[in-house]
Amino acid sequence: MKIIKQKHHLRGRLTVPGDKSISHRAVMFGALAEGTTEIHGFLKGADCLATINCFRAMGIGIEETDQAIYVHGRGLHGLKAPSGTLDVGNSGTTTRLISGILAGQNFQSVLSGDASLNSRPMKRIIKPLTLMKASVESVNGDGCAPLRIQGRPLKAIHYDSPVASAQVKSCVLLAGLYADGETSVTEPALSRDHTERMLRSFGAQVSSRGNTCSIRPPARLKGQRIDVPGDISSAAYFIVAGLITPDSDLIIENVGINATRAGILKVCRDMGADLSLMNQREAGGEPVADIRVRTSRLHAAVIEGDIIPTLIDELPVIALMACFAEGRTLIRDAAELKVKESDRITLVTENLQAMGADILAREDGFVIEGGKPLHGAPVTCSMDHRIAMTFAIAGLNASGETVIGDSACVDVSYPDFFARLESL
Ligand code: S3P
Repeated sequence: MKIIKQKHHLRGRLTVPGDKSISHRAVMFGALAEGTTEIHGFLKGADCLATINCFRAMGIGIEETDQAIYVHGRGLHGLKAPSGTLDVGNSGTTTRLISGILAGQNFQSVLSGDASLNSRPMKRIIKPLTLMKASVESVNGDGCAPLRIQGRPLKAIHYDSPVASAQVKSCVLLAGLYADGETSVTEPALSRDHTERMLRSFGAQVSSRGNTCSIRPPARLKGQRIDVPGDISSAAYFIVAGLITPDSDLIIENVGINATRAGILKVCRDMGADLSLMNQREAGGEPVADIRVRTSRLHAAVIEGDIIPTLIDELPVIALMACFAEGRTLIRDAAELKVKESDRITLVTENLQAMGADILAREDGFVIEGGKPLHGAPVTCSMDHRIAMTFAIAGLNASGETVIGDSACVDVSYPDFFARLESL
């Protein structure tokens, strides 16, 4: 449990942990590559550790040192049948991406996670994998994990995905590594493109055009060094904290600003934020910058359409920011929030209402009337890391005390989040 009190002046420099999406992919692709993949800046959060454990259970040697993670890949056909159920914990990325890989193996496997994971929709991957002739079964017949996957040679397809989801896209592309021709995916709006970028750097033939990307099964992938940038989804809490907390000035160093992830930066600027990017550079095939934020007078915005997939994980903290902006903010086209680690539309609305905010839930987002002062309250996180971190930042800007019951869930993506916050 954590009790958060109101603060003024957040000042200082910080780095945030490595990007969760990139860390998962580095382990997965490293396992399927030939030779060793050396990962620097890996996020040692519970989700990415679940990915490591799944590949260890399939015979991949993975060493962890203070400096790096070393994945000793065994090639595209080097995985071994796991002796038990693969435990994917709370991680949707592990589940959906690994399912694409398992569909192409010559063995059967079962994947299962915690209660939240096992209630998230998996039909979105079962459908395209089945079209590719894979056998993927929801063990309880409810369209969720546990999933039983019987690997086999796969058929190349073109898939028109109904959702803009990098997990669905990546699942199909990874199954495409084992297909009999070119596999492609078109999504309604472009989701994060880390899979395409990283598979290319491992030597796969991946092409992207608009919202469509394609892969040809490569003869081999080649192990390499990967430098994981700081996670913009973790930086988001400090970006918003710096903007809404009085008399603040923060520099967050080494943050990935890939355009398919950086929607929050545009929204902050549209809302009048004093935000600047410094020292822009490239690291590990991804654009990176240091982000400076200072207390700002914010105004409302309409957030909808193609930008939504580029800030989907940041919407809880963006909704909080809108409570501190003058006018009515509308967030639309974000129904996906209901099927994340929790129903984030309901939890964000109920918790912010409990703190005195003027916010209403919509089927696909929120309507927020900014400018009402917040007061502390007990908040419900349902073990969702992003809800816990959002309400820690809310608590810094609310009178009285904000109580976060299941605060330990931040381990999923940001194990030392509360220590970092205190250091500022
Ligand atoms: C992720 C994709 C997104 C995101 C998740 C990580 C990824 O999920 O919310 O935190 O690493 O591919 P969806 O694909 O369900 O949108």
